[in-house]
Amino acid sequence: MNLTRRAQDSLKQRLPYDALLPDRMPFYVSSLVYSFGALTLGAFAMLILSGVTMVANGPLWWQTSALGHYVHAVHYWSAQAFFFFLVLHLTSQFFMGSWRQGRALTWMVGAFTFGLAVLEAFLGYLSRGDFFAQWNQTQGKAAFNALGVGAWLNLLNNGQVYGLHISVLPAVLVLLVGTHLFLVRSRGLAPPYPPDEAEVPAAGPAGGGDA
Ligand code: HEM
Ligand code: HEM
Repeated sequence: MNLTRRAQDSLKQRLPYDALLPDRMPFYVSSLVYSFGALTLGAFAMLILSGVTMVANGPLWWQTSALGHYVHAVHYWSAQAFFFFLVLHLTSQFFMGSWRQGRALTWMVGAFTFGLAVLEAFLGYLSRGDFFAQWNQTQGKAAFNALGVGAWLNLLNNGQVYGLHISVLPAVLVLLVGTHLFLVRSRGLAPPYPPDEAEVPAAGPAGGGDA
């Protein structure tokens, strides 16, 4: 069997066409907690949209024109919203134990995405080029040298910092988020933990079984 046929068969099995856009969800999904992932995704899309618009027009545009200032502010606030919802998402998934029943990879890909997103935001702050950024570049360089990664990532090299922020890391992040969503869609959402024995009301007339 050739590689294409094998990929086709695996996709058909793991993500059948009918299940691509499901119109029915398990009952436990009707809770606010399940919207944090989608809200993170929304903020991520806004980051890419505003970031690409800034890069296409150049620093003079986002530093001097009114529309440029606005798009820059959208990028800044999207980054705040992104991490706000991301932390809510990963904390709630932690307490719901969503890595259960074969979903460990979904969790691991998510955790890796989080680590890379922190680096991406750090490099974004360094791309500003103002005194705040310069201070963090010089201080951060010592920390990166101490970690032994200074030879690969030199924070004083603006081309490297900016290049990683606008191209390499976003591309890897898009790939990781895509994989994360594919895993969520192909494995389905984890059912909640079963209720604690002590919390289940006793059956029979006195216990008020199915009231
Ligand atoms: C850019 C970052 C991320 C995006 C866009 C994202 C998006 C999503 C979406 C849309 C879902 C579907 C259901 C829901 O919202 O609860 C989901 C599920 C999940 N996410 Fe994320 N996520 C991200 C990062 C993370 C991180 C950092 C973790 C944990 C370390 C994580 C762990 C999970 C797990 C375990 C599930 C499966 C839930 C289940 O099976 O019930 N995600 N994610
Ligand atoms: C997860 C994705 C991203 C995050 C978390 C992020 C975060 C940030 C942050 C926090 C800043 C500093 C903003 C400020 O303090 O004023 C920044 C700046 C910047 N970002 Fe992003 N960013 C992301 C993706 C992108 C993408 C995809 C592009 C373009 C293709 C981009 C282009 C820029 C540019 C040009 C700046 C410099 C703006 C300035 O001089 O202040 N970003 N980013």
